[in-house]
Amino acid sequence: MSTDKASGTATLNIPGKDPVDLPVYDGSVGPSVIDIRKLYANSGMFTFDPGFTSTASCESAITYIDGDAGTLNYRGYTIDELAEKSNYMEVCYLLLNGELPTKAQYDEFVKNVTYHTMVHEQLANFFHGFRRDAHPMAVMVGVVGALSAFYHDSLDISDPHQRMVASFRLIAKMPTIAAMAYKYSIGQPFVYPRNDLSYSENFLHMTFSVPAEEYNPDPVIVRAMDRIFTLHADHEQNASTSTVRLAGSSGANPFACIAAGIACLWGPSHGGANEAALAMLDEIGSVDRIEEYLARAKDKNDPFRLMGFGHRVYKNRDPRATVMQKTCHEVLDALDMHDDPVFKLAMKLEKIALEDEYFVERKLYPNVDFYSGIILRAIGFPTSMFTVLFSLARTVGWVAHWNEMISDPTQRIGRPRQLYTGPTARPFVPMDQRG
Ligand code: SDX
Repeated sequence: MSTDKASGTATLNIPGKDPVDLPVYDGSVGPSVIDIRKLYANSGMFTFDPGFTSTASCESAITYIDGDAGTLNYRGYTIDELAEKSNYMEVCYLLLNGELPTKAQYDEFVKNVTYHTMVHEQLANFFHGFRRDAHPMAVMVGVVGALSAFYHDSLDISDPHQRMVASFRLIAKMPTIAAMAYKYSIGQPFVYPRNDLSYSENFLHMTFSVPAEEYNPDPVIVRAMDRIFTLHADHEQNASTSTVRLAGSSGANPFACIAAGIACLWGPSHGGANEAALAMLDEIGSVDRIEEYLARAKDKNDPFRLMGFGHRVYKNRDPRATVMQKTCHEVLDALDMHDDPVFKLAMKLEKIALEDEYFVERKLYPNVDFYSGIILRAIGFPTSMFTVLFSLARTVGWVAHWNEMISDPTQRIGRPRQLYTGPTARPFVPMDQRG
């Protein structure tokens, strides 16, 4: 662990108190950290960082983002190379194990995932408790959380074997559950997974095939789906991953932790932005209304924001948006939709925004969610399924971080403190004496 050996010391001088020496640790790349674990004991004070903009919550070796350079690496490999040369199953192996697999390791991993894709038959009953028009993310939170009621042999987080089985089950069953949520919403029968199909083709098969006829998706679409999963697989300590880590730090079972991550991802500021970005493009409707919406995005009195733009970490273009835009071209060409007006509108909006001082000054660029909705709708997904797909792809990242945290011998329950500004102690007043 890099936190085993300090590279230096930071001294905090607090008026009226003795100086506090705090160890400094360096990572393999990126900002060093000041270890404040003993700050409260030595000073009686907390740090204050509500949005965690300057806080490292953990040590991790999984994903590194350089926000200024606009780069994203999974275990040291760039997202651009992985999106181009790898596939989602190989990326899952990489994120979970830290190295790219040999052919034998890859085949074994894929076989393990494949043979966990079916869900307990009684799980189907859960869906029938939801309204058909329930948002599929509500279904995902409920059904994924309920997996802990069915798989009792993979709940003991202190057992590495059970953690491995739970990891395979989650990665393997998310596509099956996501497809079931979609089928339920449109009143079509659930389609069982097939062991002869690749992960992404199997998902498309369970989502779009019907018992009445053959289904053979365009290989370009299958490749695009797989690449979209790779682009969304992990992103260091984002809100939903931090949620999974915090839930896991209490010892909650893996299915409950992933359900918590799904719930957090749902928000429009996070994974819900892909659904919101496409709704925004549909609302803008035409190029001549772009200026009106940019003015609204800049107006502090208007809650409207340019969905799919901006990022807490990237202060340059999100490298995933670049790959997503390229994939957009490929999919729309394959579907003979290269004149798709929404795609043209999105590219025009991006061009105008990136020439606008407000966005340039604040380093607001398109993020992963800006183009993804255009592709997903072209493939045939309703907008309500967009964040479900994000949660499907991100499950491997959540699981990788959960395993990394649980395996850390220094891991403790996460328990932040606060700056209290409420009433100080006061006596109870009986109701008949209250004014
Ligand atoms: C994801 O964290 C991750 O890694 C997340 C993610 C992942 O893979 O896990 O990358 C996935 O969630 C991508 C982000 C998707 N969200 C959106 O596209 C929603 C729109 N974006 C914004 O809500 C916003 O940019 C955030 C939430 C993404 C980031 O918010 P921050 O870091 O808290 O930035 P901020 O709100 O402090 O904004 C800084 C300034 C503000 O203006 P000033 O007060 O300085 O004048 O930029 C403005 C903001 O008003 N601003 C925007 C804007 N985003 C920021 N103005 C208009 N439109 C926007 N989209």
